[in-house]
Amino acid sequence: MAKILVTGGLGFIGSHTVVELQDEGFEVVIIDDLSNSSIDTLERITSITGVQPVFEQIDLKEKNKVIDFFNRHNDVKGVIHFAASKAVGESVEQPLKYYENNINTLVYVLQELQKLETSNFIFSSSCTVYGQADELPITENAPVKMAESPYGNTKQIGEEIIQDSCRVNENFNAIALRYFNPIGAHETANIGELPIGVPQNLVPFITQTAIGIREQLSVFGDDYPTSDGTCIRDYIHVVDLAKAHVVALQRLIGRNNKENYETFNIGTGKGSTVLEVIKSFEKVSGEKLNYKIAERRAGDIIAAYADTSKANNELGWKAELTLDDAMASAWKWEQNIRKVSS
Ligand code: UD1
Repeated sequence: MAKILVTGGLGFIGSHTVVELQDEGFEVVIIDDLSNSSIDTLERITSITGVQPVFEQIDLKEKNKVIDFFNRHNDVKGVIHFAASKAVGESVEQPLKYYENNINTLVYVLQELQKLETSNFIFSSSCTVYGQADELPITENAPVKMAESPYGNTKQIGEEIIQDSCRVNENFNAIALRYFNPIGAHETANIGELPIGVPQNLVPFITQTAIGIREQLSVFGDDYPTSDGTCIRDYIHVVDLAKAHVVALQRLIGRNNKENYETFNIGTGKGSTVLEVIKSFEKVSGEKLNYKIAERRAGDIIAAYADTSKANNELGWKAELTLDDAMASAWKWEQNIRKVSS
């Protein structure tokens, strides 16, 4: 049973990936600093899989602790690195926090991995690296555009750091997964997204409005050049996304990778407008959503959706769940957490 380190393993995407890894028989060790996650998630993961992952509360900015961790776990066969800060607006206000949290920590983990005989590394990247792509759907060959925010820049710089590390060490294998828009929750409604404060992303804002925590959703702009005037994104179910991490890791462990640094787009290949997402939510929940059309949000791109053929052909991975599935699971999760906390 190969031992896999999942950093940020109690977060939204991390927790779903831990579940899929355990289902595939991997032994999982989680590092999380609990800065944007809850320790309850550990029990929730265990309730789904029946196996409690090993958990260490470590802040990866503390280099000595990273060194100590790898000294104790030098049998790690792969690392999936989620631990990072991800609020775009906050990154504009506090750029150095983002560079320290997202870049220093990455370097410390890579430095320890380089000491192992062979190492396999999966990096959480984002379609944000493409900015507003000139052509849709977006392939992995689309140029990386100048980052719109320090957060986006940390994803670009992170990819470069990994690529440079791969160049000088042929035993270091890495895959950067460029996620489109992850949404939804596990079908058991035991794990899901837990935004702190007012959600910045569309789907948690929808479910929190429907449950009565927020009064009204603002749809940011309806005068974009799209079918109904609202922005288009590629919304991918978090469980499909989690499975992509497992197959990417298996590709590296099985030495089926073509180069020691590879990138893959992880999306559904289908674009949906904001109004289509709202309609899907209303259909699966039976709730009427209170929303209004508001001003455009600064920095939003018009449209982004993935060309997934590289992931389909090379990884043998394809998104299987629909937008309706994702919205139904997000709603079930929202209802479940409010029931527990009230
Ligand atoms: C955002 C980030 C992106 C990050 C991703 C992580 C920005 C500009 N981009 O992507 O860098 O990788 O989250 O998940 O913040 N919308 C509304 N009303 C709302 C919230 C959103 O109409 O209250 C619309 C947005 O205008 C957009 C769509 O919903 O068209 C999706 O927004 P969001 O969930 O924030 O994701 P992105 O902006 O695509």
